[in-house]
Amino acid sequence: MEIRKAKKTDLNDIYVIEHDSIGLETKNTILSSYQNHNFCYFVCEDKKKIIGFILVSFASDEAEIISIAVDKDFRRNKIGQSLLDFATKFLLTKKIRTIFLEVSENNKSAISFYLKNGFVKSYERKNYYFENGRGTNALVLRKILG
Ligand SMILES: CC(C)(COP(=O)(O)OP(=O)(O)OC[C@H]1O[C@@H](n2cnc3c(N)ncnc32)[C@H](O)[C@@H]1OP(=O)(O)O)[C@@H](O)C(=O)NCCC(=O)NCCS
Repeated sequence: MEIRKAKKTDLNDIYVIEHDSIGLETKNTILSSYQNHNFCYFVCEDKKKIIGFILVSFASDEAEIISIAVDKDFRRNKIGQSLLDFATKFLLTKKIRTIFLEVSENNKSAISFYLKNGFVKSYERKNYYFENGRGTNALVLRKILG
């Protein structure tokens, strides 16, 4: 298993995992994030198959985890953990001090994952998402890098 910066040829696999796990992006938005110099995709490749990715953005001394997803068949194997660790090391090289992210209050597995990794609740955005026919709050989580 290898974690590395994404190549353009990985973008279709990223799209498939994103579509299956989150469903917010199109092939065009993924390409445009890939081409943005303040964004970076990292992927996890196992036996020539992409099984997870993370997308971070960074500017000044702050970064954001825009998305992270692991192929359903490979979850709870520390792939998400490895992707987050790898991205965090990269962000430290960019002199990032604080990482933010936004997550639906209904996404219990992702919230557990982030809390396990030292993120703390910063504030809530009321009715930020529209899920299952109603407004859902977003939690904004924050981690200060030591
Ligand atoms: C969130 C996500 C990326 C985690 O990836 P993963 O590879 O399955 O997670 P890991 O195996 O690295 O988990 C590390 C720790 O996080 C916590 N965790 C991860 N998934 C969890 C779950 N479903 N329930 C409770 N805790 C969980 C656990 O503490 C876990 O450690 P443990 O297995 O030793 O108990 C994955 O569940 C996913 O792709 N979810 C769908 C997409 C998504 O919601 N992304 C986040 C919003 S952008």
